[in-house]
Amino acid sequence: MNGETASLRIRGSEISLGVRAATLGQDVVDVSSLVANDIFTFDPGFVSTAACTSALTYIDGDAGVLLHRGYKIEDLAAQSNQLEVAYLLLTGELPTALEFDAFRRAVLACRDLPAGLYDVCRALPKDTHPMAMLNTLCAALSAFEEIDIDMQDESARREVAIKLIAKMPTLVAMALRHQAGKNLTEPDAKLDYTDNFLAMVFGETPVPVVVDAMERILVLHADHEQNASTSTVRLAGSTGTNPYAAISAGIAALWGPSHGGANEAVLEMLEEIGDIQHIETFLARAQDANDAFKLMGFGHRVYKNYDPRAAILRTSCHEVLESLDSAGNPLLRLAQALEARALEDDYFIRRKLFPNVDFYSGIILRAIGIPSSAFTTIFALGRIVGWIAQWNEMHRENLKIGRPRQLYLGPGPRSFVAMPDRA
Ligand code: ACO
Repeated sequence: MNGETASLRIRGSEISLGVRAATLGQDVVDVSSLVANDIFTFDPGFVSTAACTSALTYIDGDAGVLLHRGYKIEDLAAQSNQLEVAYLLLTGELPTALEFDAFRRAVLACRDLPAGLYDVCRALPKDTHPMAMLNTLCAALSAFEEIDIDMQDESARREVAIKLIAKMPTLVAMALRHQAGKNLTEPDAKLDYTDNFLAMVFGETPVPVVVDAMERILVLHADHEQNASTSTVRLAGSTGTNPYAAISAGIAALWGPSHGGANEAVLEMLEEIGDIQHIETFLARAQDANDAFKLMGFGHRVYKNYDPRAAILRTSCHEVLESLDSAGNPLLRLAQALEARALEDDYFIRRKLFPNVDFYSGIILRAIGIPSSAFTTIFALGRIVGWIAQWNEMHRENLKIGRPRQLYLGPGPRSFVAMPDRA
C-alpha cells in the first residue's frame, strides 16, 4: 500500500500525507511532515500513534495473537527457552544448535557483577522496594562497565546486549537476597541461565518443575511491542545515553501498577477479597466510577480479546500448584472464580476487559517462593530481553532524539508583577 496518500483539509488548504504499509496489522499515516505546515497531531497516551518501525514483535489485540519475529508465543512458551527467544529477538532468526551454544556460552560467561556493586546493594536499607534496588543497581552498572559505546557499531551493541541479559538475573537475585536479609550470592558457573538464577535466590538447586515454571514466565514476558517501559527505554536511548541508564529508566516505568506492578497488586487484591463470597462486593467497586478500585490483572491497552499469555499461565498455574502441592491453591480457586464472574459481567464484556498476563503470574511466583513485593523484578528479568533488543534495533537506524510536542493551554504573554504589588 506504499504510495497511497491520505489528505488533511485544514485552514483552507489540503495537506497530502503518505501512508506506510505494515506487513501485519495497522498501516500508518505518516504525519511527520505536518510540522512544516505549523500543525501538530494530538494523541495523549499514544493510543493512535506509532512512534517507530519495528520487526520484533507483533500483537493482534482483537484476535489475541502475539508473535515474536513471526513465531507464535504459544509455540515459544511450549518449545523454546528465554535465551533462545533472546537470540531470536536480537538476530531475527532461531539459532542453529551451534549458534545457540555460542550465544549461551557468551551469556553465561558474563553473569558476574563487579565487587563494588555488592557494596552499593549493601548500602541500601533492606526494606527498600526490590524495584528501587533493581533500578539503582542497574543504573550503578554505568559506574563499573564501559559506557563509552559506539552505538553505530553492531558488535559493540551485541556485546552490551549479552552483558545485560547475563547480569540481570544476578542483579535481581542480589536484590531479593538483600531484601530477605540473606548473604549475597554469586553465579554458579556450572548452572544454566534460569537454574542459576533460582539457585542464587534460594541458595539451593531448584527442582525441575520450578525451573520450567520460571522459564515459561520469562519467555512470556520477553517482549511486548511498544509498551510503556519499552517506549521509555527507546526514548531514553534516543538521547544517546548509555544502555545501563536506558534500561534503568525502563525499570522505573515498569514499576507502576498500571504496567508491571500489576502482578504485585493482583496478589494484594486477591488477599483483600479473601473469599469467593466477597467477589460481588469487589466487582461492584470496580464498576463504581467514584471508587478508585480496579480489578488488577484485568484490561489491556492492546488486547481486546484474551491475552494469550494469560491463557498459557492459567494452565501453567494449575500444573505448578499441583506439582508443588501448594498452599496457593485457594488463591487460584479464588482467581478463577473472579475471572469467571467478571467475564460474564456486562461491564467487563462491553469494555472488552479480560485477564492479562499479570492475573496468574503472581500466583505461580508466590507458589515458587518469590515474595509479592519482588514480583515485578521477575517481570523485569523477562523483559530485559525485549528492552535490549528494541534498544539494539533502534540504534540500527539513524535516529532522531524522541521529542514530543504539546497542545499549549496556558496563559499568553503577560507582564511580570513585583512581589509587593501582587494581590
Ligand atoms: N477494572 C475496572 N475497570 C477497568 C479496568 C479494570 N482493571 N481496566 C479498564 N477499566 C475501565 C476503565 O475505567 C474505562 O471505563 P470507562 O469507559 O467507563 O471510563 C474503560 O475500562 C477503558 O479503560 P482505560 O483505562 O481507558 O483503558 P487503557 O487502555 O487506558 O488502560 C490498563 C489499560 C492500564 C491496563 C487498564 O486496563 C488497567 O488499569 N488495568 C488494571 C491494571 C493492570 O492489570 N495492568 C497490567 C497491564 S498489562 C501489563 O502491563 C503487563
